[in-house]
Amino acid sequence: MFQIATIPRLDLNTELFVVFVQEKFVKKRNKSFSDFPEEVHAPLQDFFTIRDFKGKLFKTRLIYPRKENGIKRILIVGTGDQKKLSCDDFRNLGKLIAEQQEELSVKRVHLFLANIKGFREDFIRCFTEGILFQKYHFEQHKSEKPTKRKTGRFIFLCNRQEYTPRFRQILLETESIMKGVAITRDLANQPSNHLTPGDLKNYVLTHFKNTRNIQTTFLDESAMRQKKFGALLSVARGSAEPPYLIIMHYKPAKKTTKRLVLVGKGVTFDSGGISIKPSAKMEEMKFDMCGAAAVVGSMDVISHLKPKFEVIALIPAVENMPGGKATKPGDVVTAYNGKTIEIINTDAEGRLILADALAYAAKEYKPKTIVDFATLTGACVVALGDKNAGIFSNSEKLTHILKERGIFSGDQVWPMPMDDDYKKELESDTADLKNIGSRWGGAITAAKFLEHFVDEIPWAHIDIAGTSYDVKNKDYLGKGATGFGTRLIGRSLKQLEKMI
Ligand code: BES
Ligand code: MG
Ligand code: ZN
Repeated sequence: MFQIATIPRLDLNTELFVVFVQEKFVKKRNKSFSDFPEEVHAPLQDFFTIRDFKGKLFKTRLIYPRKENGIKRILIVGTGDQKKLSCDDFRNLGKLIAEQQEELSVKRVHLFLANIKGFREDFIRCFTEGILFQKYHFEQHKSEKPTKRKTGRFIFLCNRQEYTPRFRQILLETESIMKGVAITRDLANQPSNHLTPGDLKNYVLTHFKNTRNIQTTFLDESAMRQKKFGALLSVARGSAEPPYLIIMHYKPAKKTTKRLVLVGKGVTFDSGGISIKPSAKMEEMKFDMCGAAAVVGSMDVISHLKPKFEVIALIPAVENMPGGKATKPGDVVTAYNGKTIEIINTDAEGRLILADALAYAAKEYKPKTIVDFATLTGACVVALGDKNAGIFSNSEKLTHILKERGIFSGDQVWPMPMDDDYKKELESDTADLKNIGSRWGGAITAAKFLEHFVDEIPWAHIDIAGTSYDVKNKDYLGKGATGFGTRLIGRSLKQLEKMI
């Protein structure tokens, strides 16, 4: 889908030739077009004589040069002040241009970069991401498909000295990561009647069937009963859908003892159970498996980017429903690690299924690091909104890596406190602990609950309740699921390799 070409070798036969111009350039009285290929000098000159285009960021004009020219259309894209552009601006620019490509239904888009002085790796990486975000469409359930969209080829035109192996590598890596993001979004967007725990398990098994470096397996209900996954099973009881623990295991070519475990909350629908949720916005609870989706997408990325450590991904997959056999408030259950839990609120189900998965990860795989992704608490959305996920960790080093990589990748995470002061809230009169704390600081008490199950292994819990769907004011993310977590893991592999 992407190609790099240098300018001298350019055949200027193109359906859409994109040029970026900033305000500074537009303001100039005597513009020099010498940076641009000769074929576009005249049309650009004509265009700029009418001074209604200021070059403001995201403003565009489409012009149709005369026929004898091999260029059918020129899209002029304003970039405001190029020095001030952020990575998200690049992503939104990518989205904008892919939108134009789809609207005009063109096959080949040439992106002229040579006049952007010192364009950086960030631009290529994020701009490409933006294009690929726009290229994602979730239309499976629409009976009237939009007229078939052209995929489009995007050809970056740069100077010979800018055409480096690194440039190619950035494109390839970004494409791999964005494939994973599309998988994450597809799974997450799926309604719960189309993606039950069993469907999720089947998807994983099928998807990685021919992936040589990933083995998949699962524990079914009876295996989990045998292994005493009491917390997970207590959540599944109220649903007619059987639960699964889905397991993916990536092994690098060279044998290693280094292991990372990823865990993703896979509640395919969260009704709240007996502590049932209000009906307003309950449909959003199909997204309660975004953590699981992030982990599946990440494993796909990992199979392509091949880090030098093992990665095991665990997905506790359940549906939280108020059936006749459902767990009731006041019930006491025993988790995989033997700790007893008094269930005060059946809507705090995510931490229960994660408890067993985390304890199983610690005991069974003895990993160097654990990272979990979960749409765990509304309180995290209250605390951080939809731009940063909360990161709760017992390791400063891991926090540091993920925070920095979060900014780099666009999947931002913000560190939250983990003081033991919060721990007391989870003391129960009846059992070892209870599953909710007080009204305040709910995201933190949820994380403190999980801490009981990780056995002091370096671990980070990432609460993605706010960031994994319907994020506002980040145009490139589009509607529905954002794929949060997959870019973060994909862009952290090198750093994790050093730490693990
Ligand atoms: N899946 C929800 C958390 C959630 C809320 C995700 C909003 C996305 C958007 C979770 O299972 C839940 O219900 N949490 C409760 C916990 C409470 C009962 C302590 C919550 O946040 O209200
Ligand atoms: Mg819940
Ligand atoms: Zn939930």
